[in-house]
Amino acid sequence: MKNIAIFASGTGSNAQKIIDHFRNSGIARVTLIVCNKPGAGVLQIADKEHIPSILIEKELFFHTDHYIQQLQQANIDMVVLAGFLWKIPANLVQAFPGHIVNIHPALLPKYGGKGMYGHFVHEAVIRAGEKESGITIHYVNEKYDDGAPILQERCTITPDDTPESLAAKVLVLEHQWYPVIVERLLT
Ligand code: GAR
Repeated sequence: MKNIAIFASGTGSNAQKIIDHFRNSGIARVTLIVCNKPGAGVLQIADKEHIPSILIEKELFFHTDHYIQQLQQANIDMVVLAGFLWKIPANLVQAFPGHIVNIHPALLPKYGGKGMYGHFVHEAVIRAGEKESGITIHYVNEKYDDGAPILQERCTITPDDTPESLAAKVLVLEHQWYPVIVERLLT
């Protein structure tokens, strides 16, 4: 059985879908939630699901191996970023080569990079008059939203779409695809 750590800072709807997907799986379980934001919804999900969670500190995360050791002690096989907004430091990338993945709510390489997250992404896409958007699931390297793509799925943008309605369309794709792709990568 493989162990998944989910890194998330927000509501945690993707985290919930992944937890649900692996609940009775013979392949893997979500065994750790890592969060950098006190009070984030994902921490309540961790409590409700009886999954241990860690609230991480910036200094330790960016300048020590502290959390790498914790992940290793917890026998984590894969790190899944689901709305985690800090850059992953090089030492962490190197500790889990090819085993850290992220989901981005747009079709990278467009609308990625620092500061491009959540509603900022959807606002930029609508402002640019794009006819489609979607999701990108990709491997994580030391740069924001830059690692090799694993999967892209698209949705159509209609003239009446707003950043909010687009966000909802994109979230449907995220929930549909992220658990399946994580499972595929583990097998
Ligand atoms: C998701 O839409 C995810 O793609 C996005 O944050 C949201 C988290 O939602 N991530 C980024 O923008 C990363 N740059 P959730 O907390 O409900 O899963």
